Amino acid sequence: MPLTLSRPDLQRTANFIAGQWLAPEPGRSFDVTDPATGAVIAAVPDSNAADARAAVDAAHAAFPAWRRAPAKQRAQILKRWNDLVLAHQEDLGRLISREQGKPLAEGRGEVAYAASYIEWFAEEATRANGEVIPAPVPGRRMFALREPVGVVAAITPWNFPAAMIARKIAPALAAGCTVVCKPAEDTPLTSLALVALAHEAGVPPGVLNIVSASRERTPEVVDVWLADARVRKITFTGSTPVGKHLARRSADTLKKLSLELGGNAPFIVFEDADLEAAVEGLMAAKFRNGGQTCVCPNRVFVHASVHDRFAALLVARVAALKVGPATDPASQIGPMINDRAVEKIERHVQDAVARGARVLTGGVRLTALGANYFAPTVLADADASMACACEETFGPVAPLTRFSDEAEVIAAANDTPFGLAAYFYSRDARRIWRVADALETGIVGINEGALAAEAAPFGGVKDSGYGREGSVHGLDDYLHTKYVCQGGLDA
Ligand code: SIN
Repeated sequence: MPLTLSRPDLQRTANFIAGQWLAPEPGRSFDVTDPATGAVIAAVPDSNAADARAAVDAAHAAFPAWRRAPAKQRAQILKRWNDLVLAHQEDLGRLISREQGKPLAEGRGEVAYAASYIEWFAEEATRANGEVIPAPVPGRRMFALREPVGVVAAITPWNFPAAMIARKIAPALAAGCTVVCKPAEDTPLTSLALVALAHEAGVPPGVLNIVSASRERTPEVVDVWLADARVRKITFTGSTPVGKHLARRSADTLKKLSLELGGNAPFIVFEDADLEAAVEGLMAAKFRNGGQTCVCPNRVFVHASVHDRFAALLVARVAALKVGPATDPASQIGPMINDRAVEKIERHVQDAVARGARVLTGGVRLTALGANYFAPTVLADADASMACACEETFGPVAPLTRFSDEAEVIAAANDTPFGLAAYFYSRDARRIWRVADALETGIVGINEGALAAEAAPFGGVKDSGYGREGSVHGLDDYLHTKYVCQGGLDA
C-alpha cells in the first residue's frame, strides 16, 4: 500500500544541515523498509564523516546567537513546533507506523506523546532560573547562573521515532543548545519530517541539524562527534553496550552524557493485588508497541496463591490480541522491527521452553502474516536461568514466575544489572512504600502500567544509564551551572 500523506513534502529524503536540505550524491543512500513486508519505502542519505563534521560546523556556528536569543523567543518557536506537529498528527502517525510497524492508532498516539514533550519544554524554556546565593562574607554578591552546555549530539532509537527525538531535542533547544542528530537507521523518515516542521516553526538555520546513516556507517558519523570537542553533550537512547562505548569514548573530551539504556523490568503481583487491574496494567505495559519498549515488563512475578487465576485472566486477554499490519485499523500488535528482533524473541522462547517453561499462549512466529510477526505469548514456570530473565526480550512475551515471599521477590526483582522501571500491584499501604523504596530502579509503577509522561522524570540507574528526560529535570541535563561572584561591594 503506498504511503499517502496530506503533505507529501513531509516525506524528506535528505540531510538537513545549516538550514539546507542536502540530497545524497548518487550511490550514497540506503533503503528504509516497511517491517511488515520488507518493501522499500524510501532511500535516505548514508552519511559519512564529512557530513557529520558539516553538521557540527553548522551547530557550532549557530550556538552563540541561539543561546543569546531570549528564552521567550525560543519558547515561542517551540510552541509553534508543537502546534505544527499536532496539526500534522495524521501524516506523522502514518510515517511512524509505516517505517516502525506500530499500529496506526499507536502511531497517532505517539505523535501526541511527542508533542507533549515539545509543549512542556517550550514552557520550561522560560523557567531556567538561576540562584542568588547569600554571601558568607561582606562586600560580595554571589550567583549561580544556568547556561546551555553547547552543541548536543542526539542519537535516537527506532522504537519511538517521534517521541524520543522530541524529548531530547525540545529540552536542548529550550535550554539554548544547538543540535546534531542521527536518527535510528530503521526509522529516519519520522525524524526528518519532525525536523522539517521545526524549520517551518522558525528554528533558525544551523540550530537543528540531522544526518541519517546506515547501520554500517553509523560508527563513522558518531566517531566524528565523539572526537570533536565542540560537541559538549551526547544524549543517547539504546542498548547498554553502545551506551558504555559512548561513555568511554566521550571521556577524552569530557562530554556531558544522558544515557537511556536497556531495561529488564520486573512486574510483581502480590497476593493482595486487584488481579483484574494487574492484568490491565500488564497488558498496557507489556504489549504497548508490541513489547518493544525499554520500560516494558520483562519478568512477571506472581504470588503462588493467585498465580493460576492471574495466568488465566492474562491468557484470555493476550490470546485475543489482534496481530496484523499497521495499516489494518483492527491491529493491536504490528510486525517486529526487523528479522534480528524476531530471531531474538524466538530464541528466548525456545530457550525458556528448553529450560522448563510452559507456553500458555503464543510462542511462535506468525509466518502467514509475514516474516517479522510473533504471536503475543505468555510463558509459565519461567526462572532466573532463562535468557528471557536476563536479557531484554523486546517483544510480546510475558514470562510468569511464581513467588511466595515479599523479601524473596524483591531480591529477585533487583537481581539484574539493569534498573530502569519496575511495577507492582498491591493494596497494602505499608507494603506499597516498603517495596517502592526497595526496588533498585529509576521508575516505579504502583498499581499502574502506563508511567511515561512529559511531566515525569524518565531514566534509570545501574546499567540502565543516567540522566533524566521529561519533567523539570529534563532541562537540567542540557544546562550547566556557572558561579558568578562580584566582590568589592563594601559600602
Ligand atoms: C523507551 O522505550 O525508550 C521509551 C518508552 C516510553 O517513553 O514510555
